Amino acid sequence: MSGHNAQSVSAGLRSATAVAHDRAERAHFVDDLMSGRLDAAGYLRMAVQLYFIYRALESVGDELSGDEVAGAVVDERLRRLPRLTADLAALGVDPTTITPLPGVAAYVAAIERTRTDPVRFVAHHYTRYLGDLSGGQVIRSRMKLHYGLTDDALSFYVFDEIDKLKRYKDTYRDTLDGLPLDDRQVRSLLDEAVRAFEHNEQMFAELAGR
Ligand code: HEM
Repeated sequence: MSGHNAQSVSAGLRSATAVAHDRAERAHFVDDLMSGRLDAAGYLRMAVQLYFIYRALESVGDELSGDEVAGAVVDERLRRLPRLTADLAALGVDPTTITPLPGVAAYVAAIERTRTDPVRFVAHHYTRYLGDLSGGQVIRSRMKLHYGLTDDALSFYVFDEIDKLKRYKDTYRDTLDGLPLDDRQVRSLLDEAVRAFEHNEQMFAELAGR
């Protein structure tokens, strides 16, 4: 337990990443993508990078699924890699023929390092999946609206095994708040979440500046 910390872990995570979230949302690439100034190929360039990120995230998640801390958030219903692979196939891309951007390779390496650090793994899990369950839903509708992408290319954003996304996120936050973490572990969780956001920002910067 975080003992006498005034904030719960979930509130701490949200406030620690609030500024970085704002920046990520306003990144040039994200803004262009969401405003319809790019095209389907622009979306595809991001989706390919996500493939490398989720391949690492879900490989480490599988390995840590029996861990008391990491296993509390790992959930088969969140698994995205098969969907992402199918989306990319629908868009005509085989990700194994593509090299990750340098910042994405660094992001992947950071995720890989959490194989021996379940607390920091949770930070990466939180940053990506809670984002997909939130902003991801907006991305999906904008991609349909602006670029005519169809459902068969956007299954990444569909969580059809989860009934109510809002309720799921609330339960997820309750799970975070129930993790058996000491103060040092809470600090490392928050620290890694900020880093995870920075990795996403770096990816957007690289996607904008090709
Ligand atoms: C297209 C840009 C984005 C939009 C429109 C957006 C929108 C949102 C919204 C509306 C929420 C609040 C949902 C709620 O309270 O239930 C949210 C939460 C969140 N977003 Fe984003 N987001 C974007 C980009 C990102 C990015 C790039 C990341 C990181 C990879 C991210 C990670 C998160 C996380 C972790 C939360 C959960 C915060 C919490 O409740 O603890 N978002 N987003």
